[in-house]
Amino acid sequence: MKKKTFKKVAVIGCGFIGYSWGVVFARNGLETYMYNRKSPTLDSVKERMGQALKFLADEGMIEEREIEESLNRIHTTDSLEEAVASADYIQECMWEDLPLKQDIFVKLTELAPADVAIGSSCSGLKISDIAANVKNHKERCIVAHPTNPPHLIPFMEISGDAASQEIKDQVFAFMESIGQKPIQCKEVYGYVLNRIQLSLIQEALYLVKEDICNVEAVERALTDGLGLRWAFTGPYGVEELNSANLREGLEKYKDYMIHFFTEEQEKVCDYDQAFIDKCVSGFTPIMEGKSHEEYLKWRDQMVTRTRLLKEKSK
Ligand SMILES: NC(=O)c1ccc[n+]([C@@H]2O[C@H](COP(=O)([O-])OP(=O)(O)OC[C@H]3O[C@@H](n4cnc5c(N)ncnc54)[C@H](O)[C@@H]3O)[C@@H](O)[C@H]2O)c1
Repeated sequence: MKKKTFKKVAVIGCGFIGYSWGVVFARNGLETYMYNRKSPTLDSVKERMGQALKFLADEGMIEEREIEESLNRIHTTDSLEEAVASADYIQECMWEDLPLKQDIFVKLTELAPADVAIGSSCSGLKISDIAANVKNHKERCIVAHPTNPPHLIPFMEISGDAASQEIKDQVFAFMESIGQKPIQCKEVYGYVLNRIQLSLIQEALYLVKEDICNVEAVERALTDGLGLRWAFTGPYGVEELNSANLREGLEKYKDYMIHFFTEEQEKVCDYDQAFIDKCVSGFTPIMEGKSHEEYLKWRDQMVTRTRLLKEKSK
């Protein structure tokens, strides 16, 4: 595969995910074109990116001088043509709405040269549906799903069964080169991360709905329990360390854990407004009086510091 040089990227949509992708690209030396229709979201995006860059500098992830350098590489526009012109990669970050994404993918593939990969940030949709109406080189359309926010959490996933392997490998290598931690998977709803996360949310809802425990207990099981391991060992690593080795761990799991859960596998946790109220009031004390913004900042600091600790301890 010919190694492609990436100098300019276009980010399509400047909301939560778009602005954060923009920070990833700009801080890694790429000329970053931020497109949105005319709106307060577009007007405020550079300022929001500046705040995120300052946060990274305050936390020691980047040098102070990189704030200004990165900001100089950020360009905002409400012209799709300008954003996409001579872009080496396009990251779509519009609302999770199939007709909207279908429409923008047709436009982007008409505007961008045939060898430019176009990744959708979408959280669950399949790229074969999003690119269903694309006539101009559909094989460069892929899912490039980040973890929110991508400028702090590097995991991202690439999929697209009809996409060319060359394009998927090219975007994989590009993402690695800018510090993301990519994987590739087959085209399934929710990909890898959200399938795992949805199973967990499902169980978290079930435990509270059936009055097995309260919201605080579920939060604590993760934040004071499983989560402390999960930044370092995933479920296979956990099984390796819970037994003499992974083989023994999986055999034990099969022998005496799995049958207790089998009869419950079909349970689906539906809920009503009263249940949502119960969860919200159960969760409120966990925020210890912090506003949503303060809680978000605290989460971001803890994630960043854990990431730095991980990197330093390699
Ligand atoms: N928020 C998350 O946790 C998260 C995580 C991973 C992936 N995603 C995915 O990323 C994508 C973007 O999500 P988000 O959370 O950033 O949404 P968002 O609502 O914050 O941003 C969407 C942006 O799209 C713009 N937009 C919508 N319609 C438009 C149009 N017709 N023309 C121009 N601009 C338009 C909006 O103005 C907005 O700026 C979605 O596919 C979402 O599923 C979100």
